[in-house]
Amino acid sequence: MIGVFDSGIGGLTVLKALMESIPDYDFIYFGDTARAPYGSKSPKTVITCTLQNIEFLVNLGAKVVVLACHTVASLATDSVSARYDMPIFDVITPAVKHAIKTSRYQRIGIIGTRATTMSAAYEKKIHAENPNAKVYSAACPLLVPLIEESWHKKPETRMIVKKCLHPFKVRQIDTLILGCSYYGLLTRMIRTKIGKRVSLIDPSSCLADVVKAFLARHREVDELLSKNSYLRLILSDLTPQIEKLAGTILQRNVRIEAGGP
Ligand code: DGL
Repeated sequence: MIGVFDSGIGGLTVLKALMESIPDYDFIYFGDTARAPYGSKSPKTVITCTLQNIEFLVNLGAKVVVLACHTVASLATDSVSARYDMPIFDVITPAVKHAIKTSRYQRIGIIGTRATTMSAAYEKKIHAENPNAKVYSAACPLLVPLIEESWHKKPETRMIVKKCLHPFKVRQIDTLILGCSYYGLLTRMIRTKIGKRVSLIDPSSCLADVVKAFLARHREVDELLSKNSYLRLILSDLTPQIEKLAGTILQRNVRIEAGGP
């Protein structure tokens, strides 16, 4: 199985892209809803929770792990990679490569949680590929709770999105990375506010392309993965609100188990 991990249910946007890209594969998803949000936590807490959760997924049979949470990918990728001798994919790296390829003037913006922004993980990865790129990032901590309240189409959210994007308009970016697993749900709103001339990078589809290409190249890994189009969803805390939003993100009826490490 391919294990997909997120702090909560935002990573279902990544799971959805993966299931569309490689529909035959079996997936196990774990969202740590009991301890989310991670975006306002310290690096130490994010790393500790992540290692416990990846161990949980590995014990349930994950042979490949996807870090679908940008906060986790920013802070804990090295710790997870150091501990496990298996393919680990983080949601940031493919987005960075795609942004650099897409951006005409190498003026790239990133929006994300406070923890992602403070880690400067995106900046470091972009500058490792192109030291001359101009990179601007902004934390938008209000967006996650608004989405979790299913307010992602409300005018109040539109106002906050506009405020979050203002610094990027001033800096004339030509490419914007949606650096949080939930922000894909705001794509239309962000598109309207940032304007047509800015390319939006959706990290979930970039990651799905990379995983698909990797499995095609690495038969020895591919052979370890079961392919019955099976999906197991586990959350560490389950409420009707979360269950409803999970169904909305995946656009299908879902059965979710409560559990965790
Ligand atoms: N999953 C987180 C991310 O992609 C957002 C939610 C949280 O802060 O836990 O950064």
